[in-house]
Amino acid sequence: MKPIKIEICLGTTCFVMGGETLQNMGDMLKKKYGAKIEVEAVRCLEVCSSDNFSKAPYARVDGEVIGEASLEKVQAVIEKKLNHE
Ligand code: FES
Repeated sequence: MKPIKIEICLGTTCFVMGGETLQNMGDMLKKKYGAKIEVEAVRCLEVCSSDNFSKAPYARVDGEVIGEASLEKVQAVIEKKLNHE
């Protein structure tokens, strides 16, 4: 099975909007899901335009953008994907 790709935004907008909590998220997810996922920190997911600013910080799971990203939210999407495969 192909690993689920998790991209965590560490760009300025996301960082300012609470992204520092996302920095640990990658490690926590790796510990929990191991080889089932692949975690990448990115500089900007290009979704933080002025309209979407308030939804930062962002993460992306297999192409699905998650606004106001938190460990719980990202985990919920991972679980959903794992259960559908
Ligand atoms: S800084 Fe996070 S999407 Fe742009």
